[in-house]
Amino acid sequence: MSKPESDSKSAAAAGEQAAVRIDDVAVRFRTRKRDVTALQEVSLDVAMGEFVAIVGPSGCGKSTLLKMVAGLLKPTTGTVKLRGETVDGPRHDIGYVFQRAALLEWRSARRNILLQAEMRKMPGDRAKARTAELIEMTGLTGFEDALPHELSGGMQQRVALCRALLHEPPVLLMDEPFGALDALTREQLNVEMNRIWRETGTTVLLVTHSVAEAVYLANRVVVMSDRPGTIREIIDVDLPAEREYTPTLAKPEFASVAARIRELLGAGGAAD
Ligand SMILES: Nc1ncnc2c1ncn2[C@@H]1O[C@H](COP(=O)(O)OP(=O)(O)O)[C@@H](O)[C@H]1O
Ligand SMILES: [Mg+2]
Repeated sequence: MSKPESDSKSAAAAGEQAAVRIDDVAVRFRTRKRDVTALQEVSLDVAMGEFVAIVGPSGCGKSTLLKMVAGLLKPTTGTVKLRGETVDGPRHDIGYVFQRAALLEWRSARRNILLQAEMRKMPGDRAKARTAELIEMTGLTGFEDALPHELSGGMQQRVALCRALLHEPPVLLMDEPFGALDALTREQLNVEMNRIWRETGTTVLLVTHSVAEAVYLANRVVVMSDRPGTIREIIDVDLPAEREYTPTLAKPEFASVAARIRELLGAGGAAD
């Protein structure tokens, strides 16, 4: 279960370990042709079990931010900590979901999920039991033996999500995971994501271009500026953890948070 925002703030104040702590980070890319500052003065604490969404214009450093948390990229200055430990190389205690499911075409849904276990040399029994649980949790029952090309885009993303959750990572990073899906499938996966987050208790960092998706799913929404990406504002979403879709979107709190995000992004910004 997520903590209410007030709790997570006081937890941070009391020095309780944050799931993710980003402290005054800058990322600069120097190539022969260009010198790009992707992120600048970015600080963010994410409490254990919290769901944080990140929105911002294209190219403002959102993917860079997630890669840094995963340890796939080092900040130029500043530090990133995962559960109190400085990130200084690829981390195994995270799950990562991308816009494309990137499944192996010759492997069934179940065996694509089990790939995670093989890479991590997880005990077979535990991996199989966890796979069965996740298949049920994500509504893939009956499709365990299907090959990726036999699955819809939404189903493929469910498989990718199971694969990312197999080793029970305390932190799940999602980079526009539902961006390639049609609107209805996306809504359906949003509803499932809210339930999966509550059931697993995992901390989530979600990058999205959809304001509705951000507000529906998150405890807090981080709004970033144009490149060099800085945090313009962090907005609390004061809604209960369990969120029915249509009633939630009809709430005044939902509308006011969404309006504020759109204002920050500017007319014609990244909102869709
Ligand atoms: N490995 C890299 N080398 C050079 N420039 C990069 C690299 N990765 C990202 N960039 C640049 O950093 C900026 C931020 O990229 P990215 O994090 O992918 O943005 P976003 O995900 O918000 O669209 C972009 O200008 C991009 O071109
Ligand atoms: Mg990106």
